[in-house]
Amino acid sequence: MTMKKEFNRTLVTCALPYANGPVHIGHLAGVYVPADIYVRYQRMKGTDVLFVCGSDEHGVPITIKARAEGCSPQDIVDRYHKLIKDSFTGLGINFDIYSRTSSKIHAETSSDFFRKLYDEGKFITRESEQYFDPEAKTFLADRYIVGTCPKCGHEGAYGDQCENCGSTLSPEELLNPVSRLSGAVPVKKKTTHWYLPLDKYQEWLSSWILDGHKEWRSTVYGQCKSWLDGGLQPRAVSRDLDWGVPVPVEGAEGKVLYVWFDAPIGYISNTKELLPSSWEKWWKSEDTRLVHFIGKDNIVFHCIVFPSMLKAHGGYILADNVPANEFLNLEGDKISTSRGWAVWAHEYLQAFPDKADVMRYVLTANAPETKDNDFSWKEFQTRNNSELVAIFGNFVNRAAVLTHKYFGGKVPALGELQEADRAALDELPKLRASLEANLEAFRFRDALRDAMGIARVGNKYISDTEPWKVAKTDMARTGTILNVCLQICANLAVAFEPFTPFSCEKLRNILRVTLDAGQDYRAGEGEPTENFYKDGEAAALHARRHGKMLFSPGLPLLTWDMLGRSDILAEGHVLGEPVLLFEKIEDAPIDAQIARLEAIKAEKEAAAKAALAKQVEPQKSPVSFDDFGKMDIRTATVLEAERVPKTDKLLKLTIDTGIDKRVIVSGIAEYYTPEQMVGKQICILANLQPRTIRGIESQGMILMAKQGDGSMRFITPQEAVTNGAVIG
Ligand code: 2FM
Ligand code: ZN
Repeated sequence: MTMKKEFNRTLVTCALPYANGPVHIGHLAGVYVPADIYVRYQRMKGTDVLFVCGSDEHGVPITIKARAEGCSPQDIVDRYHKLIKDSFTGLGINFDIYSRTSSKIHAETSSDFFRKLYDEGKFITRESEQYFDPEAKTFLADRYIVGTCPKCGHEGAYGDQCENCGSTLSPEELLNPVSRLSGAVPVKKKTTHWYLPLDKYQEWLSSWILDGHKEWRSTVYGQCKSWLDGGLQPRAVSRDLDWGVPVPVEGAEGKVLYVWFDAPIGYISNTKELLPSSWEKWWKSEDTRLVHFIGKDNIVFHCIVFPSMLKAHGGYILADNVPANEFLNLEGDKISTSRGWAVWAHEYLQAFPDKADVMRYVLTANAPETKDNDFSWKEFQTRNNSELVAIFGNFVNRAAVLTHKYFGGKVPALGELQEADRAALDELPKLRASLEANLEAFRFRDALRDAMGIARVGNKYISDTEPWKVAKTDMARTGTILNVCLQICANLAVAFEPFTPFSCEKLRNILRVTLDAGQDYRAGEGEPTENFYKDGEAAALHARRHGKMLFSPGLPLLTWDMLGRSDILAEGHVLGEPVLLFEKIEDAPIDAQIARLEAIKAEKEAAAKAALAKQVEPQKSPVSFDDFGKMDIRTATVLEAERVPKTDKLLKLTIDTGIDKRVIVSGIAEYYTPEQMVGKQICILANLQPRTIRGIESQGMILMAKQGDGSMRFITPQEAVTNGAVIG
């Protein structure tokens, strides 16, 4: 049996978001909200925690975006770095440092890292043939090549993926490939790159993960197992590109570190930037617990590639856990940044100012922890109105308002407890135990349910005990009930702090208490970063960052340890003013969001339809002239038209063929009304064997052009011709 390791500190990292677009609710639910909950909880518990993130500012998509916008990659990353950073702040996701991989310290750190592995012969080199743009004189990343998708015929498919049908492609598979840089046809050219031979780490990884980390989420463990079972291959760690950290080796001009080599080193560089003289204890000391919060698409990089890099380098600790989430869908469809099918964090904050907590709550209540989940605006509204407002907010409001009404805002005395009081208070330690167990195990949905359980206990208790009625006859008993309610409110202020920190600040003001949030936020921009452990320093930094003090000396202090207790607020303590914790969300703003998404959907459907209509069937096998000659195709005019009763698709047409008047039953009612057909000249196959359709004998067939989407149009001569003219 292996002993559970003892740790003295916890280093939490969040996937560095690419600075080529804003972050959306999928990112928030998958990575940043759960990480922030975990860190807030650990801080409150008194764990020495460091919370590190930053922008991932390299990689091909950034260069493509820059080219498309006619600006430099640096302009792009500057723009999105700020937007993303501000979104995180707006959502209360408080990293100790949010830096960037375009920083000088990152270039040095990742360059040194590569150089050590290079010097120690940890890489292999391989020559391969890659696409090259002969006009722009540069190698082309897969994304830089476009062509026709071999699977669906979409004309703008990329060399790595077709966004129309979702197929993963290689540039070799594209039909008519061209360079996005110059429009030239790319040619194959030899190039040499450095590879990390992951196969050499296979055995070590298997024993580290498959034997040593059976406690990891089954989705994460399962993905690692399947990578390992498939056999690891060497992975290129360099690219031919002019944006990134230059490969620090002679003769490597025009080559940069592959973005997935430098990005995870960003965790280390950002720690170094924050704590220049003590960063090593966070990365090199075995008593540091390292936890990576990521989405499932990043599992291989954080569980296989980065650990192999760290192992090859030596001296670094490895992740103790990687609680990767699955994906969040939006209104039943995959989130797609290129289609705009997303709820962007910064737009949400503009549309719903002061409602960061509602989004945090909804994304956690529905977190994609074990499987992909869906976000819908209606559910968002319901969870706000029926849970946050109707249960949590309503309970706190009733407790606070009644205390002001009957006791002048002072916590009343607790008299003798009755059965209902004991039953409610007994729930608190149970819910705390469950909440903690769930938080420790990264089960944030369940943990939130426990926190909400406290509000439910309170809401039920105040409804059952009806202090507003008791007040008419028994003030002492009313006081006891409200004392119990206020103790539950204090429990809520602790339990919800990791989930809804803005509302908990309001709640603390209602209760007039302060919070020990642990070391809290170490970094302010441009602040000295080494002295956060000194008393008061963290609070001062926090105050600068948030414009106010979180910790107010002189007020009763809430700590995580108090959770579950029923004596948090002393008798006689004066409460603050009651304010509403949450507001009802009406239909209008929700409908506006839904309408925006519906417009995107309609646009997509129209585009898909247009693309489908363009598709043509392949040519049929050859026929002889004689075979063709057997067909009697001629012109005719529709005299009468009517729907065939009880059918959606059939029209009965009486036509003048020049030879005779006859009836043809045709399946065109979906495309033409009877009125549209009367008087029209058409082409018919006159000698098709008659068939009886719905009791009507159909003598021939109308020639129709059938498009890729199945829609049909009849064929008409460009100028009026004699009925019965033979076509051939
Ligand atoms: O998938 C992504 O968004 C990447 N930018 C994550 C990088 S995580 C880390 F390794 F830097
Ligand atoms: Zn396709």
